[in-house]
Formats: sequence, C-alpha cells, structure tokens
Amino acid sequence: MTAEYQVHGSVAVVTLNNPPVNGMGLETRTAAVAGIQRALADDAVKAIVITGAGKAFSGGADIKEFNTPKALAEPSLHTFIATAESSTKPVVAAIHTVCMGGGLELSLGCHYRVAMPGAQIALPEVKLGLLPGAGGTQRLPRVLGLEPALNMIVSGNPVASEKLPALFDEIFPADADLLTSAVAFAEKIADARPLPKVRDRKVDYPNHEAFLQFSRNTVKAMAGPFPAPLECVETVAASVTMKFDDGMKFERERFLHLIQTTESKALRHAFFAERVASKVPDVPADTPVRTIKSAAIIGAGTMGGGIAMNFLNAGIPVKLLETRQEALDKGIATIRKNYENTLKKGKLTQEKLDQRMGLLSSTLSYDDIGQADIVVEAVFEELGVKEAVFRKLDEVMKPGAILATNTSTLDVDKIAAFTKRPQDVIGTHFFSPANVMKLLEIVRGKQTAKEVLATALALSKKLKKTGVVSGVCDGFIGNRMIEQYSRQAGFLLEEGALPEQVDKAAEKFGFAMGPFRMGDLAGNDIGWAIRKRRYVEKPDISYSKTADLLCEMGRYGQKTGAGWYDYKAGDRKAYPNQDVNAMIVKHSADLGITRRKISDEEIVERLVYALVNEGALILEEGIALRASDIDMVYLTGYGFPLYRGGPMFYADTVGLPNVLAAINKYARGHQGGAWKPAPLLQRLAAEGKTFNG
Ligand code: 3HC
Ligand code: NAI
Repeated sequence: MTAEYQVHGSVAVVTLNNPPVNGMGLETRTAAVAGIQRALADDAVKAIVITGAGKAFSGGADIKEFNTPKALAEPSLHTFIATAESSTKPVVAAIHTVCMGGGLELSLGCHYRVAMPGAQIALPEVKLGLLPGAGGTQRLPRVLGLEPALNMIVSGNPVASEKLPALFDEIFPADADLLTSAVAFAEKIADARPLPKVRDRKVDYPNHEAFLQFSRNTVKAMAGPFPAPLECVETVAASVTMKFDDGMKFERERFLHLIQTTESKALRHAFFAERVASKVPDVPADTPVRTIKSAAIIGAGTMGGGIAMNFLNAGIPVKLLETRQEALDKGIATIRKNYENTLKKGKLTQEKLDQRMGLLSSTLSYDDIGQADIVVEAVFEELGVKEAVFRKLDEVMKPGAILATNTSTLDVDKIAAFTKRPQDVIGTHFFSPANVMKLLEIVRGKQTAKEVLATALALSKKLKKTGVVSGVCDGFIGNRMIEQYSRQAGFLLEEGALPEQVDKAAEKFGFAMGPFRMGDLAGNDIGWAIRKRRYVEKPDISYSKTADLLCEMGRYGQKTGAGWYDYKAGDRKAYPNQDVNAMIVKHSADLGITRRKISDEEIVERLVYALVNEGALILEEGIALRASDIDMVYLTGYGFPLYRGGPMFYADTVGLPNVLAAINKYARGHQGGAWKPAPLLQRLAAEGKTFNG
C-alpha cells in the first residue's frame, strides 16, 4: 500500500506513503487516485485532505521511474492532479517538512493548501535538467505572481513555507498537530462553493514582455551548457501569454523534450550517484558508527590546515600537532587568513570566525592528543615519516580511536601494519584545497573494520563532503586515472600540440581546467617526484620527458610564478611562454618526431578515454564499487563537466563500441603501447552494455 485511506468524521484523509520521501511512483499515484474516488463515492465524506507520511509531504515525481514506461503509465501525475482539481468535494493539501516538484504541483491542483511552518517548498526540477512538468510553470505564477514564481522555478531553491503566505490558506503554529488542524480546516470549508481553482486565476504583471526578455538574457548568460533554465523561462512566460490549457500543453512538450536530453540524464545520474556512493554492499545501513566529537590532525601544512577547517566548520574541536612551533604558527595563521578572506567576502560572520578559531588548539606533544576520537595524519608523503607517526599514534591513542591517513599514493595496508590495530586504520584522502573541494576518497584497507568505514562515511556527510569508497592501489581511484590522462597530455605535446591547444580543447569539452593549467596549479614538481619513483620502480611504463624538462627549467607552476605558462602577481591568468613552447618543439625533434596538427577532437578523446580505460580496470579490480562512484570522484574532485555526467557515464553516452574503436585506433599511433583496452570495456562493448548498466 503506497497511499493510505482513513476517514475522520466527515473528512477523508489520503496519506501518501512511499518512503523515504513519498515520491509519486505509479503505485502511489494509483492508490491516491483510488483514495480520492472512494471519498467521492462516500456520501458521509464532505471534504478530502491529502498529506504525506513520514518525513515529507512529497519529494515529487519518482525520479527512478523517469525514462521507464511507469513514468507515463496511468494514472499519470497529470491525471492524479486533475482528479484532485476536478473533485466535486473540496481537496486540501496538508503540507509538512518537504514539498517539492510534483508534490508542490499536486498541492497547486488542490483547492486549498495548509502547511506547517518550516516546510521546504521548491520546484527543484531545474537541478535535474528539467522543468516542472505537471503544471508548476502554469500554476505557481498564478499564485505567487510572475517574478517570485520565476525565481523559484529557475533557481530550484527551497523556500520556507512561512515565507510564502500567498501560497497557503493557513499556516499552523509550530506546535500544532498537522492532521488535526488540517481536518478542522477541511470541516470549516467543506460547504464552500464554488471550489477555488488556481487554473482560473490570471497572472497580472505590468509590462511582462520587458521583464521576460530581461529574464531570458540573464538566465541565458548563467545557464552555460544546460538547456533547462531557459526552457523554464519560456514555459513560465506561457503562463502569461497563453490560455491555461495551451500553457499546460506547451509545458508538457518542453518537459518531454528535456527529459530526453543528455544534460538531464547526466544530472539525474549525478543525483543518484551521490546518494548511492555512501552505500557499501557488505556494510549494512545499521552498522554501528563511532562517535566523533573531537579530532587531532598531524601536520599543519597545506592539507592538514584545510582538513582542520572542515572539522572546525562542522563544530568539531581540532588539535593540530607539528614537530616545530614555527610550523604550527604558520599553519594556524593560514587557517585564520582563510577565514578572514571568507569574512571579507561577506560569507562568514566575525562571531562564526571566532567560534571556529575557538575550537582550534595546537600542540607539539603526542601526550595531548590521545583522547581524540579521530586522528588524521597529513605529514610528508614518505613511508618512513608515516611509519614513525603511526607507531606513535598506536602508543598514545585511546582504544577505539580512528587512525586516518591522508596519503595520496602510499599503501594504506602497509601504514595500518605499523600499528597493532589495523582494523582502526583507514585512508581519508582529501583534495586540495581541502576546505573547498567536495570529494573525500575513503580508502578501505584490507583490515579496516566495517564500523570504521561506516563512521568515515557518516563523517564525510557531517563535513559536507561527497565520500566515495576506494580500495587500496597506487593513486586510489582519482589519481590513478589522472595519471593516464596526464600521460596522454604529455604524448600530445611530443606529437605536435602545445599546452594552450590541449588546455583549450579540454576546457571547451567542459573541464574546469585543462591538464597543463592544472599541473601549474597543483605544482609540476609533485608529478615529477612521482615519475622519478616510477622510473625506478616501473621502468616499463613510458612517460613524455617534456614535463621533466620543464621542471629542470625550474618552472614548477604558479608557486614559482612560471610553469607551462607564465603568471603575473595578483593574476591567475596563464600566459603562453615562448621558451617553453620552443623546448616542446625541440624535444619532438630530438625524438625524431615530425610534428603534426592534432585536432581538438583527438585531444579530447585521448584525454577522456584514458580516464575511461583506467576507470574500467579500477572497476574490474573492485577498487571502485560501481561506475557511478568513479563518476562522483571526477565530478567532485577533478572538475569533470557535470553536464556530461562523469567519465564512465560519458563513455556510456558515446557508446562503448565507439570508445573501444577509438582506443584501438590510438593503440596503433604514437606511444600506442600506453593503450591496452581494459577487458571489462571490451566485454561490455561486445555485449552492447554500459558501465552504468
Ligand atoms: N524520487 C525518487 N527518490 C527520491 C526522490 C524522488 N523525487 N527524492 C529523493 N529520493 C530518494 C533519494 O534517492 C534517497 O534514496 P536512498 O535513501 O535510497 O538513497 C532518499 O530519497 C533520501 O534522499 P536524500 O538523501 O536526498 O534525503 P534528504 O532528506 O537529504 O533530502 C529531499 C530529501 C529534499 C527530498 C531530496 O532528496 C531532494 O531534493 N530530492 C529531489 C527532489 C526533486 O528533485 N523533486 C523533483 C522531482 S521531478 C518532478 O517532480 C517532475 C514533475 O515536475 C513532473
Ligand atoms: P606539506 O608539506 O604542505 O605539509 C606537511 C606538514 O607535515 C608540514 O607542515 C610538516 O612540518 C609536517 N610534518 C612533517 N613530518 C611531521 C611529523 N613527523 N610530525 C608532525 N608533522 C610533520 O604537505 P601536504 O601537501 O599538506 O601533504 C600532506 C599529505 O597529504 C601527504 O601525504 C600528501 O601526499 C597528501 N596530499 C596532498 C595533497 C596536495 O595537493 N598537496 C592532496 C591530497 C593529499
């Protein structure tokens, strides 16, 4: 049963009951429509209340049904709403907690709306690349007025019910019982006729054309590659310029168009990918989690400071530990400066700044950190240094404390083995700048306890991060893949491209930053150090030497004012440098390569398919639990364009046989040995399947 039916005196109550958020899937719609019909057939019933069980009135249409036959099967959402609107007995929507999308549209089809204060009211379809497709674009402007409705529809942001008095016939006091109050309201209006219908109202807005044109221009400039925001404007415009039924038809047509777009599919993929990432098949949802009320951080450098800020922002006290007082002072000063910059931008109050800094303390002694619930190590990336730290942590930390490492390349199992409690050791790989980037790779060691993993996942939510679980391997999910991408970027330079062309092609594809600008930002010396290690440990892997030559020129990137590009003080713009370009051209000549013109298409394919192919290996090895986890890593940690849904989703949209064919082609070209099609990719392509199934 996905909607319940009860009668309270002369009022029938239809309660949507489809946990977790009463998404209006086919079964729910069917049961709710049956409820309304039953109420209409019962002479003892004078009015009908529709409400939602549990933690929502309704989160809207069931997104999981989209692009399946169930979405349009009767009774459709339109039919459900029309049944309520055409009811000969008054229908009251009784709203609480969450009323979004189709849920709000349903309430707009009801004759009356009552609500608890603090309910989140929104038409968030635009965030899924859609527009409200069940009358929202036509009814909301008729209730709120053109401008406020357009703002809500184009932004998709929630507004508290008490801030929308025009939408509600009554907002109950916070301590009221919704059902009792709604039933009393329904009894009060039971005999009122004619029944008020939103569709009968008009949208009055003086000079609406000028306003709509202004809105089109503004929204167009902000929407980037997403078609939905502008479609929202056009459909809302129809609420003024068309008759109600024509506006509804127009809305339907544009909704059905948007639902087929790759952009909308990508956004919906990301929505579910983010939520499923916190689920680990062998770690049930009821796995106990440890309490995290205090944290210690070892190392107050670039990462330690940023990581500390995440805990402070979440209200968790932090003790920073360093080897020298100067390093501590510097780390704390950087944290304060970061907060002060946010304060200057008006995004933080002085009070909050003081509160957060008040939660921060520091020490040079391990004796002071033993009682912390979690300790995150962020010292130099050297196994010997990590070993000393973890042996010490094993001595001083209280039983049950979580010992986390922020290592980006080292073996978490080896680090765990430095302790007598490997079950308590886990990798928490933050991304730089750690106080900004959403991604947190949670590295599960061979012996990491399920409880520790569940705690880290819960903590990632508390820190407002997207936690993605990775197994142990060199580079984990993200950096292991980016290495293949960077290798291709290097080979492209040897063959004929220049950094600017590669970056422009990548940025045109939608990456926040091309590989060379990214290298300059992260520091080219980091990759150099990794390659030097590889030359010894894995001599059979080929790399372009161009990046080494660049580092030999002392051009480490923005931090030295020069990298692949030149940088000017106070300006992050990248200026191409003739010496660097000459070095690249000379290196090709030294290798005996005749440089050729490389198309932007080839650049993008080689960069992105290098990610995809390594992603397929990672998936097959079980390092990532699912393709959508890899997509989340790239969307939240590497600036992969959201509207393309992540590398694995993108490969699915291109078609895996096409991806494989391109990889096979590049395997016959320059440095073709770098391309070994992943067996999983070959298998899925042959079977006509996709990564995201
Ligand atoms: N359909 C199906 N499942 C939904 C859903 C929906 N509309 N909204 C949320 N869910 C699911 C989530 O996938 C998640 O499932 P899980 O527990 O299996 O992972 C669960 O509900 C809880 O979601 P959250 O973790 O996001 O829980 P919160 O309490 O943090 O947030 C929420 C609840 C505010 C409702 C948030 O989930 C949300 O913003 N949902 C999207 C709402 C939305 O976009 N509605 C419009 C739908 S499109 C529509 O209505 C079309 C119409 O115009 C025709
Ligand atoms: P950093 O060099 O900026 O900071 C390291 C800090 O650790 C220094 O302040 C140093 O004084 C301190 N330290 C060194 N040995 C110590 C010890 N034994 N006890 C206490 N403190 C000690 O380095 P960064 O960049 O912050 O990196 C730290 C860790 O984070 C490394 O493992 C690195 O691989 C990882 N990482 C770095 C990223 C980056 O972009 N910088 C991204 C993700 C992970």
